[in-house]
Amino acid sequence: MPRVVVLTGAGISAESGLGTFRDAGGLWAQHRIEDVATPERFARDPARVHAFYNARRAQARAARPNPAHLALARLEAALGAAFLLVTQNVDGLHEAAGARNPRHMHGALDRALCAACAHDWDAPEAMAPEDPCPACGAPATRPDVVWFGEIPHHMDEIGRALAACDLFVSIGTSGEVYPAAGFVQEAALNGARTLELNLEPSAGSAFFDEARHGPASRIVPAWVEEVLAAGG
Ligand code: APR
Repeated sequence: MPRVVVLTGAGISAESGLGTFRDAGGLWAQHRIEDVATPERFARDPARVHAFYNARRAQARAARPNPAHLALARLEAALGAAFLLVTQNVDGLHEAAGARNPRHMHGALDRALCAACAHDWDAPEAMAPEDPCPACGAPATRPDVVWFGEIPHHMDEIGRALAACDLFVSIGTSGEVYPAAGFVQEAALNGARTLELNLEPSAGSAFFDEARHGPASRIVPAWVEEVLAAGG
């Protein structure tokens, strides 16, 4: 069971040039969630939803991991199975930094899913409503991301890890969206120490034993070096 569970959010990818959701000028200031990130909207207007995710997929593919992603990959290499990385992000920057198997609880931009038969495959650069599913042929292909109202992935495994870990660290998330926003309380309830690394206090800061504020590219490597110097 992992001793250290790390949760990341959009803030860890901000310095790689990818927009966050709720900061000034963020994605939810540019688009209404109900217009681009719900199954109902996809059913009514798939082209609009695909356009939103095609633009984010192109941006994510052009982005590079920053020192925060790289530091977490170093920590994972040092701790091995004692480390679990859970991300709310749908970009592939943790993998690009060397993370072996981050749990994408909200799915991934570089994966496609068939809404008819649930087959999933590597997403093309751009997706369109008429794209046929490679398995069943239905024109029902969608981004393999978790929309509002849908169930996040890996929740059983995450719950078991939060029940057993010694340390829970939340990085670059506003603590506004559940179930991820509740992980800190779940971990604390089970006796884990809790640490928030964020640009500024999040909505859940009060639930953490310790909070360090600053840009992830600075405070995450500093924290990882501390952990490694103390023997991991
Ligand atoms: N370094 C560290 N933290 C940062 C940085 C940075 N350079 N820039 C921004 N942040 C912090 C902000 O202060 C904010 O608390 O990152 C957080 C980003 O919050 P959100 O934009 O709400 O993103 P996130 O918490 O990941 O959203 C959770 O909401 O809309 C859904 O599915 C979407 O996964 C997303 C979920």
